[in-house]
Amino acid sequence: MEANIITEAEFKELHFQGAPKVITEIPGPKSRVILEKQELLDANVVSYPLTYTFALEAAKGATLMDVDGNVYIDFSAGVSVCNVGFQNPDVLEVVKKQADKIIHTLDIPTKARIDILEALSKIAPGSMKGNSKIIFGGPSGSDAVEAAIKLAKVNKKGYRIVTFEGGYHGQTSGSLAATAKKSYKENYLPLIPGIVHAPYPYCYRCPFGKEADACDMECLRYIEHLFRDPYSGLVQPAGMIVEPIQGESGILIPPKEFIQGIAKLCKENDVLFVCDEVQAGFGRTGTYWWSCEHFDVTPDAITMAKSLGGIGIPIAGMMYKKEFDEAWGPGGHMGTFRGNVLGCAAGAAAIKYTEEKQLLKWSAELGDYALKLLKDLQDEVNCIGEVRGKGLFLGIEFVEDKNTKKPAEDLLKKLVAKCLKRGVIVWKGGHWINVARLIPALTITKELLDKGLEIFSDVVKELDKTI
Ligand SMILES: Cc1ncc(COP(=O)(O)O)c(C=O)c1O
Repeated sequence: MEANIITEAEFKELHFQGAPKVITEIPGPKSRVILEKQELLDANVVSYPLTYTFALEAAKGATLMDVDGNVYIDFSAGVSVCNVGFQNPDVLEVVKKQADKIIHTLDIPTKARIDILEALSKIAPGSMKGNSKIIFGGPSGSDAVEAAIKLAKVNKKGYRIVTFEGGYHGQTSGSLAATAKKSYKENYLPLIPGIVHAPYPYCYRCPFGKEADACDMECLRYIEHLFRDPYSGLVQPAGMIVEPIQGESGILIPPKEFIQGIAKLCKENDVLFVCDEVQAGFGRTGTYWWSCEHFDVTPDAITMAKSLGGIGIPIAGMMYKKEFDEAWGPGGHMGTFRGNVLGCAAGAAAIKYTEEKQLLKWSAELGDYALKLLKDLQDEVNCIGEVRGKGLFLGIEFVEDKNTKKPAEDLLKKLVAKCLKRGVIVWKGGHWINVARLIPALTITKELLDKGLEIFSDVVKELDKTI
């Protein structure tokens, strides 16, 4: 791929120069002191510092600096939160100006709130454009999913919600019930009732045991059967919530026919069709604003958070078709921070920036380029079972053996630790935590991406010899 010179040069300034730069052992001495203090006082539930063993000093674009002066190339963007890059200067300036004026406004209107409402309406997917309403409740993606469950219940018959295996939707009672990972839930049961998990096309490990060339879209056929057969046990659901491309479960991209099929089922059966765009939205998957757009479907509602706040200001919401707004009135879904004005300002500025700098195109181009390099790497080694991706939403699934496909969780752990020591932050995911996720800021330069991928590939080749 030829780098787009204008964009490459312009984006270069957004990051710490000279990354990666590792000048101490990791964790360095200053990080150690802070990590020890955190361990004393912070809750046992703290988890990221167990893997990413440093204390942060600053961040810029797709790079992070720890308190010892080590600089990392960051392939996580704060888990897809900073699509426009950490501390994006254009967005930061708008946030600072807003902070000087007013920070807490409930849902009383401000210019920033109108800016984000208008900006989101313009980028609504498909037939939602010009026909949407937006709600802000609490500031997390989990809360946006709670809002979607309520919207389904208030508009449709029944209360059941169909979700999918591999799905991640959050940690509050409703969103956690919708989440598929058993270990997140088992200590907290019962959660909300009526959640049904349907199979999702994890084609590398087909839930129906099929090879790709023998696939008859069994996942879709099964859900069709649930709706059709009077004895299937599925009583009329109010809603269906799907990640059109799954993030936490290892960047799983279903066939177009699957997403189109479930959208059609929802329509035919009067079920609210919700796409969870919390992780995959805002240009992450390239070409489009929303991952559902790759499948030519318009959902009834989309949930959003993470990059909605531009540079990490916590704000979440849901955009949905106007017709579903009539069923609830004032207080139908609430939260003290219902659309924090800093988040509104940041979100509107980030959307403007994404448009001006053509980040949807950049994400698609760089994503295609990285996907090819990673597929070449897959051909060279035994430990990569599959490489998947759309835009800068990339997953590399590690196995102990390409024939048995035994998940290689330990190998991924070592890989992440070794990359960290060389100044590259690689994210983890997957059903068995054996999938490396590469989800950098969309403003990453080709040069930084190349450097990061070179280190990643070196470490993969080194570890490949050990299996
Ligand atoms: C698809 C999806 N939905 C919902 C959530 C929950 O968001 P939050 O962690 O902000 O509550 C996440 C978080 O990773 C997510 O990836």
